[in-house]
Amino acid sequence: MSCIAADFIIEQIREKPASNLGLATGSTPLGLYERLVDLNRNGKVDFSKVSTINLDEYCGLAPEHKQSYGYYMDTNLFSKVNIKKKNTHLLNGLASDIDAECKRYDHLIDSLGGIDLQILGIGFNGHIGFNEPSDEFVRNTYCVKLARKTITANSRFFNSVSQVPRFALTMGIYTIMMSRKLILLADANKQDILTKALYGSITPKVPASICSLHQNLMVICCSGKQI
Ligand code: GLP
Repeated sequence: MSCIAADFIIEQIREKPASNLGLATGSTPLGLYERLVDLNRNGKVDFSKVSTINLDEYCGLAPEHKQSYGYYMDTNLFSKVNIKKKNTHLLNGLASDIDAECKRYDHLIDSLGGIDLQILGIGFNGHIGFNEPSDEFVRNTYCVKLARKTITANSRFFNSVSQVPRFALTMGIYTIMMSRKLILLADANKQDILTKALYGSITPKVPASICSLHQNLMVICCSGKQI
């Protein structure tokens, strides 16, 4: 899964060296980032002109916090490849004015010319970024109350469930869907929700289901059986 995804990213960067990559966090893309680090060290991919835009960030965690997505990206990718720090973009989970921070992010994405290729994982409840199951799709970057299922799932990275932030900032569905290419990654334990997202109704109750309307969606999954 990671190798195939890395090949698509390399191809994207070869075609357009100044690509804007939308990046995801969580366990699923870890192998992809490892692979990109190796390929960069071997001179197979050059990040010097690439910009990155991350999907989401926990509210209340500083970039130095080990469970922040800022820290995750620095540790797993940015500090290990030849990307320019100024070209890596994340939401500020410590922003005092959340509305302004969300607007800043939307303007930033616009001013960069949009996202060329967006990597997505999927939550057990079908979330993408931190777009949780809801009655409606949310268009732009916003502050979301995390679902109980997400807090429980992500508590494995924290010392206790009480330490998991209750809110996060996330790119909205419109921004994700405006990316020119989407790559959705899912490992074998996401098989049930992935099947629901790809073959069930398109509904904000399963946010990832909207991806099937995208004109350039690639789903890469590890699966015990064919779905
Ligand atoms: C996290 C992130 C998502 C990620 C998803 C799945 O909470 N906000 O961007 O895709 O949940 O994570 P994992 O790959 O660890 O299962």
